Amino acid sequence: MSLIYLNGDYVPHEQAKISVFDRGFLFADGIYEVLPVYHGQPFMLAEHMQRLHNSLHAVGITPPHSPAEWEVILRHLLSAEQLDNAILYIQVTRGAEFPRNHLPSPNMQPTVMAYLVPFTPPTGEPAPVKVELLEDIRWLRCDIKSVSLLGNILLKLQSTASGAQEPILHRAGRVTEGASCNYFIVKDNELITPPADELILAGLTRQHVLNLARSAHIKVREQAFSTADLFAADECFMTSATREIIPVGQVGNEVIADGHCGPVTQQLIKLFRASRS
Ligand code: PDD
Repeated sequence: MSLIYLNGDYVPHEQAKISVFDRGFLFADGIYEVLPVYHGQPFMLAEHMQRLHNSLHAVGITPPHSPAEWEVILRHLLSAEQLDNAILYIQVTRGAEFPRNHLPSPNMQPTVMAYLVPFTPPTGEPAPVKVELLEDIRWLRCDIKSVSLLGNILLKLQSTASGAQEPILHRAGRVTEGASCNYFIVKDNELITPPADELILAGLTRQHVLNLARSAHIKVREQAFSTADLFAADECFMTSATREIIPVGQVGNEVIADGHCGPVTQQLIKLFRASRS
């Protein structure tokens, strides 16, 4: 049975209940965070806390906890669940009020929830996946880690229906990100990923991969690239907290290079795994 942190209490998941007038339920008016835990240690905790804070600030929700308080909650859940490797999910909504009103009252009490799920960090050679190139139909503040994910979900469903694992999104031919991941390409031994502007979520796996690449003297460019660049890439991979680094072998019906996991991707997977062990 999973334990849920809910508004200051720890409750079994069947008993974790919130109001139907919660603005998270009515308007998807909330923020979330997803943080991996390896061997009992939260990975990039400070960075995840900063991103949570930034997203809350961007939508005007007062952070309910300091990073130190979040760490106490995380450690309590880890020891209660006796988990070594886990994914922490955090959600903070603006709170509940009756009746439904688009305009929230000032000083609402946020609804705060967190829980862990067991996580098996990837091992072995990851199989290259197929992704589907789709138009990015989402809003223009994708830098905010909002629970308003309907665009992402529709795009994910559309890509899955065509046999792909994930969409690779573009706006007017400029690649942005996936429904729940960032993308990189490799061209002539240079690693290229779209800049962390308002069109993508600044993934922390993305950040870590960039740091690892720079330390390994791999040339790195945070710069927009086109769908033509994608199809002409030597390598392509996706990153996210739950999947780490996954090579992309195919975009729609087009195979990227020879469709295998390329040498730069292999090197980064190795470095990534060494850094979290
Ligand atoms: N998603 N872009 C989007 C739209 C995402 O939803 C995610 C992560 C990322 C990668 O960010 P990070 O490397 O920090 O996980 C990029 C999480 C895993 C999710 O929604 O479950």
